[in-house]
Amino acid sequence: MSTDIRSFFGRPIIIGGGIAGLMTALHLAPEPVLLLSRTLLGADTSSTWAQGGLAASLGEDDDPALHLADTIAAGDELCDKDMAGRILQDAPSAIEGLAGFGVPFDRTFKGSLRLGLEAAHSRRRIVHAHGDGTGREIMRALIAAVRSTPSIVVVEGVEARRLAVRENAIRGVWASCSIGQVFFGSRRVVLATGGIGGLFLDTTNPSGSCGQGLALAARAGAVFSDLEFIQFHPTALDGPERPMTLISEAVRGEGAALIDETGQPFLQGVPGAELAPRDVLARAVWNHLASGHRVFLDARQRPGPAFARHFPTIASACRGIGLNPVRDLIPIRPAQHYHMGGVAVDGSGRTSVKGLWACGEVASTGLHGANRLASNSLTEAVVCARWVAESVAGTPARRTKPAFADNYPSPDPLPVRPFLSRALGIVRDGEGLKAAAHALLPLAQSKDASSDPAAVGLMITIAALRRRESRGAHFRTDFPHHATVARRSEITLEAAFAEARELAQLPVLEGVT
Ligand code: SIN
Repeated sequence: MSTDIRSFFGRPIIIGGGIAGLMTALHLAPEPVLLLSRTLLGADTSSTWAQGGLAASLGEDDDPALHLADTIAAGDELCDKDMAGRILQDAPSAIEGLAGFGVPFDRTFKGSLRLGLEAAHSRRRIVHAHGDGTGREIMRALIAAVRSTPSIVVVEGVEARRLAVRENAIRGVWASCSIGQVFFGSRRVVLATGGIGGLFLDTTNPSGSCGQGLALAARAGAVFSDLEFIQFHPTALDGPERPMTLISEAVRGEGAALIDETGQPFLQGVPGAELAPRDVLARAVWNHLASGHRVFLDARQRPGPAFARHFPTIASACRGIGLNPVRDLIPIRPAQHYHMGGVAVDGSGRTSVKGLWACGEVASTGLHGANRLASNSLTEAVVCARWVAESVAGTPARRTKPAFADNYPSPDPLPVRPFLSRALGIVRDGEGLKAAAHALLPLAQSKDASSDPAAVGLMITIAALRRRESRGAHFRTDFPHHATVARRSEITLEAAFAEARELAQLPVLEGVT
């Protein structure tokens, strides 16, 4: 039996099958929706890989104001306080909602949620499911719920390539699938496409997460905020595998220590030490590596014998390279992990393009500021999905016309990875950023497969060049201090192109390309 895709015209389209996309679809029920996923649901998505849990003020010693204070402190004063306050207020009920979908959160013997500690949290407030299998367990429950919801049509193996836009309003999605290029007409589209790790050589994200949602929004003319803020996780397993295995912060929360090859701790000057905010710790580890040391996580005493019970995924990855965390030190190095910036959205997830919403990592709500507090992102995706769904449901469906399919290549991030990894890492400087802009501009302007990843990289590079200060995850050796006033940033692809073209008139210093 074949289905005429025109029968789906007018339905809201959700692009992306991670937690943000699935939750948005579930909240929209019983309104019929179309969910487009590049892969089989649950495959190749950061959501499934998420080890860390969801942060929410659930403990008796906790409340949303304390959670907010920790979020703002970790975000280096750049968070949108109103938005962050709203999201964190809703966090406990979002977790209840997930439990209602059957997510088997870890509980104490008495049956209450087991609360873990992660860096820069002043309270135990992280919930997990099956220890470090949290993302997998949430996805398992949500996929089952989606599959049994008749109003949600899931189309797997379909890659969105362009948004159709007229007069700054969405008209549909051009996508590619096994039968070729197809057009889905709709005036309501939600981006839930995840992050950008695939643009980097060292990342904890699936390599297919290469900023597709940012590229779709950029080519549609959307405004972005805080793109320069990219989070590097301090402890990725320093083994041969790419993408890299994350060694969850929860391992340090349970007492594991960082030492170097001499067996000595090296974080004496770092306030908070192993539980310092992620940007601070990633820089400390990076600097120690750069001065010729190796860095290890020592989990032999704490969590010690409990390691495999709390962290079965990590224990199995360690075993894969012949390590037993109870006996051996775990070699680590920082790796790209999360993007704080994204498509600028309002309190309902609406972007600057009419009929386009964004939810999850692809969106920039202002919650994370310059450095995300651990485990706030799954919470954000779950909370915001409801607001996005309400806003989409409140926007009337209008007819759209079919459009001819056009041919856009599948994005290939390979050529851009070296440039982004070199210029947009933990330590940056103006000359390196200019060199990256110089290299990315021709790729971004081309019709090659690397054009979309390069366009995303170019916007991030120009945003990083514009920010002439160091704040949170954005550290510039040529501007090592905070500016007096913390300001969120905005950029469009058009502006990034204009600035990069101007820079291209300037010579690039030798040895930095
Ligand atoms: C972790 O478990 O360390 C990652 C959690 C997160 O990225 O929020």
